[in-house]
Amino acid sequence: MRKLTCITFAVVTAVAFATTALAQEVRPDRIIRYRQAVLRAMNWNFAILATMVKGDRPFDKDVAARSGMFVDQLAHMPWDAFPVGTDKGAPTKASADIWKDPARFKSLQDDLMAATGKLAVAAKAGDLASLKAPVGAVADACDNCHDAFREK
Ligand code: HEC
Repeated sequence: MRKLTCITFAVVTAVAFATTALAQEVRPDRIIRYRQAVLRAMNWNFAILATMVKGDRPFDKDVAARSGMFVDQLAHMPWDAFPVGTDKGAPTKASADIWKDPARFKSLQDDLMAATGKLAVAAKAGDLASLKAPVGAVADACDNCHDAFREK
């Protein structure tokens, strides 16, 4: 009986390990800090484009193209870093609803990545006018998820 319990435990552990490999390998506080750092880096690069569109920063086509590419790449990165169990471990504004409605959380990630893909293409075009709409669409995608899944 003891042996059986052991085997059961091993199987359960193996499955848990496979499904939450990231959480098992890395401590929750590191995962939380990683995702926050990526989100801040995305914000940094997005702010460059947003301030150009507002007229608060001179338009520079090379900087715009680079920032657009960075925003799009960074937009793919935070989502691996929301495994179950990372609602605590370090200060975090991630809402508990993320783990109650993962499908909605995922769909808002997809919306963002679709919008940043278009932004990256527009940012390469080399003119300020074509940046306005995609910058607005990305800002909406950020806000939609923050409204639903980020604590105030
Ligand atoms: C799919 C959901 C989602 C989308 C889309 C999203 N965010 Fe967030 N964001 C979050 C969550 C959840 C947090 C809280 C993370 C935490 O504290 O652990 C957060 C936190 C942040 C933070 C604070 C990081 C810190 O240091 O605590 C910044 C900055 C940020 N987001 C910027 C953005 C920008 C800019 C966009 C759009 C380009 C964006 N986010 C799109 C969910 C999202």
